[in-house]
Amino acid sequence: MAGFEDEKRRILSMSVEDRRKHYRCGPKFVTLSNVPAWPEYYTKNKFMVDKCAASKDAITRLLSGSIYTPDAELNKKISVFTGDITTLEVDAVVNAANNSLLGGGGVDGAIHRAAGGALYRECVTLGGCDTGDAKITGGYGLPARYVIHTVGPMGEKPALLESCYRRVMQTAIDNNIRTLAFPCISTGVYGYPNEAAVCVVLPVVRTMLEAHRDKFDRVIFCLFLKVDIDIYHRYLPVFFPLP
Ligand code: APR
Repeated sequence: MAGFEDEKRRILSMSVEDRRKHYRCGPKFVTLSNVPAWPEYYTKNKFMVDKCAASKDAITRLLSGSIYTPDAELNKKISVFTGDITTLEVDAVVNAANNSLLGGGGVDGAIHRAAGGALYRECVTLGGCDTGDAKITGGYGLPARYVIHTVGPMGEKPALLESCYRRVMQTAIDNNIRTLAFPCISTGVYGYPNEAAVCVVLPVVRTMLEAHRDKFDRVIFCLFLKVDIDIYHRYLPVFFPLP
């Protein structure tokens, strides 16, 4: 079942210009320069973000004493992007996979379709992935050079969801991956409540960025559903407050 190694080596050795001739999405790819960082996004979408704001009481209850201060450097390292993760030209996109790593529906299906058969052939060699863990492969036909596969929990299990994001970001660090895009892991087929998920995701991403701020240039939250857009608009100002 091999036959992915040569393709992986060939694609990863190409310049960006040459790789762009091979993206299965064709010219529809989105470059990082076209994904505004959080401060610029807020300036452009202030009304939309502000109208989702949580009440002061809700924030006080949620934070229960934790304080998140404005951090201009961190704020420039995160983005929200609404659209198809398979179009993002980043070092790695994150796949919300299942334990087999052999594909499925949702974002898993979209990533495998966009990457092509070599992704499946490499995944077969990985021997699956535990829930909460992460494994890396090439990106093949994707604009992303790599895919970091993680398996989220079925239902609301915060420790396992936190582990997904922590393990993905540690895998990125171990592989010198500096730009990364996450889908909303576990909130689709696996049924993690959307709002509860964001209240796990944003603190753990902030903690990891604070601990490894020189290792990342951008972490993109790739949103696909309106419900998630409103929720990220509500909680980004809480965990990544702007000055
Ligand atoms: N780009 C970005 N996000 C997407 C895309 C896409 N092309 N397609 C779907 N999504 C979003 C969904 O709308 C949801 O918000 O990804 C989020 C995660 O949903 P799922 O893909 O259903 O993932 P998850 O809930 O983690 O369930 C994983 O589903 O597809 C199977 O094989 C997968 O068994 C695994 C399970």
